[in-house]
Amino acid sequence: MASSKSSDTVNEGASAGPTSRWDELREELCTHPDGGFNIGAACSDRHLAAGQGERIAVRCLGPRMQQRDISYAELADRSSRLAAVLIGLGLQPGDTVAVLLRRVPELFVSALGVLKAGGVYCPLFATFGPGPIRSRLGLAQAKVLIVADDLYARKVAASRAALPDLHHVLLVGEDGVRTVPPEDCLDFTTLVEAASPAAAIATRPTDPALLHFTSGTTGTPKGVVQSHRAMLAHLITGRELFGLEPDDIFWCTADPGWITNTAYGVIAPLACGATVLADEADINPRRWYGILADEKVTAWYTTPTAIRAMMRYGAALARSYRSNSLRVAASVGEPLNTEAVLWGQKALGVPFLDTWWQTEIGSVAIANCPSETQRPGSMGRVLPGIHAAVVKREGSHLEVIETPDIVGELAIRPGWPSMLSGYVGNGVLLGAGLHDGWYLTGDLVRRDADGYYWFVGRADDMIKCGGLQIGPFEVEGLLMNHPALAEVGVVGKPDLLLREVPVAFASLNPGFQAGDALRAEVLAFARQELGSAMAPRELHFIPELPKTIAGKIMRRVLKAKAVEEPEDIDPLPLSSPCAEV
Ligand code: WT7
Repeated sequence: MASSKSSDTVNEGASAGPTSRWDELREELCTHPDGGFNIGAACSDRHLAAGQGERIAVRCLGPRMQQRDISYAELADRSSRLAAVLIGLGLQPGDTVAVLLRRVPELFVSALGVLKAGGVYCPLFATFGPGPIRSRLGLAQAKVLIVADDLYARKVAASRAALPDLHHVLLVGEDGVRTVPPEDCLDFTTLVEAASPAAAIATRPTDPALLHFTSGTTGTPKGVVQSHRAMLAHLITGRELFGLEPDDIFWCTADPGWITNTAYGVIAPLACGATVLADEADINPRRWYGILADEKVTAWYTTPTAIRAMMRYGAALARSYRSNSLRVAASVGEPLNTEAVLWGQKALGVPFLDTWWQTEIGSVAIANCPSETQRPGSMGRVLPGIHAAVVKREGSHLEVIETPDIVGELAIRPGWPSMLSGYVGNGVLLGAGLHDGWYLTGDLVRRDADGYYWFVGRADDMIKCGGLQIGPFEVEGLLMNHPALAEVGVVGKPDLLLREVPVAFASLNPGFQAGDALRAEVLAFARQELGSAMAPRELHFIPELPKTIAGKIMRRVLKAKAVEEPEDIDPLPLSSPCAEV
């Protein structure tokens, strides 16, 4: 990528004044003669016209490595049929369709089908428990839910009465097997097969398309909305950062509920006409090395947690699987330490790039680009088209820090095509909450004299657990539903693999006895309600939570307490396998 000096012209082009770069991309992605601009059509139908119908669009690997392939022609056909089904069920443009599926072909058909119908695609984490799923379905005012049948039974069925907006549930059977749906649900496969394909709705670039929940700084999770034009940013970063072309096999390991999967597991590679690889399994070093080699993956997008897990298995394993096809690997979600970058580069034999972005930004904004000198340990430099700054909040005013190496908050100007259109609140789109014309990221960074950004920490209380951002307030709120707990404070405790894990401190209501039995019961309740990803790993009973005079929980005190507890000593320090490469 070129240097970031050209950023202003491109930035303006994304929002208003035309520039040839964005105009060309827009033209390339338009599938309707009248200027309709629909992600679903651009990621499937568009490639048929170019004679790419027989190419594999998506290959899904099942738990036992079974391959389920779907060609561009099939993806285009099935997603157009699903669009017809949704329109037939009464879906209006702008209505939300939530999707709770694992990495199966129906996930991709659903994403594109919802968008073709003019709906807003809202994927949810399958690892979440009934509580967080219920609150997100409610906040999104989802009209339709497409869900795996087992996940429905375990995580949604009991909440139906509390979701008055949810008119239809479409069940997807495991491995595409048809299910006999309960009375208040429909069978996805039967409906899709019986429908005739509908042409994609001619949405406009600014029409809402994507809705992802991120953890809020108050109790409720934040629903972030992106519009169809976000695809411009996905296409350009797919091409320029990952070098994606139709011959590529691109594997993004992100969970389907995370925007990383929507942007880089679905839209970017499909907009580029490449083949998407999706693996059912979560982090599994031995299996993953095998997949990189056997499936001839050319570009790989993963997380620091995954690479750290692979480091623990040692360099010899990496060498025994060394793939000849891989061209580039990158990671996102947490700081990628210098050791991991160097280890990844040696073990995989290709550039290993750190990239930074957020749900609100919608696509990679800062990266160590393959075409530039890399600075391992830094997040890299801003991509052309992004206008970023390091700022300090001075009362209600923002001061932009020009001097290098001063820590401040990372701020981004709106205008980049995938930046949020706003947050969802009570079914309406709220503003993006700008300060002096800047979007504030909540991340503390410093920029060195050469424009490389270095991550320092979060300015807020968010817990970063693996790739997931966990809002302590959401966890506390749900834990308070347990009758024994009077007050709860949840903080992140440092963890070698996941960076932080949620740990809870609680005081008890009268009549309850602190002890191992109650602790086990509350932790089981937490896993059941919140799901294993979000549930606290430890629970400590304390007589009273530390509070400020204003009554705010002092999380810093709890954090200090969390690390005082005897730690499980990890038998394999991260640095040892590095030495072997
Ligand atoms: C937060 C965003 C990650 C994209 C998808 C949505 C942290 C992200 C890095 C990085 C250090 C990073 C930040 C950011 N983060 N990338 N390369 N180095 N920290 O992700 O759930 O909205 O989380 O993840 O704190 O604000 P998200």
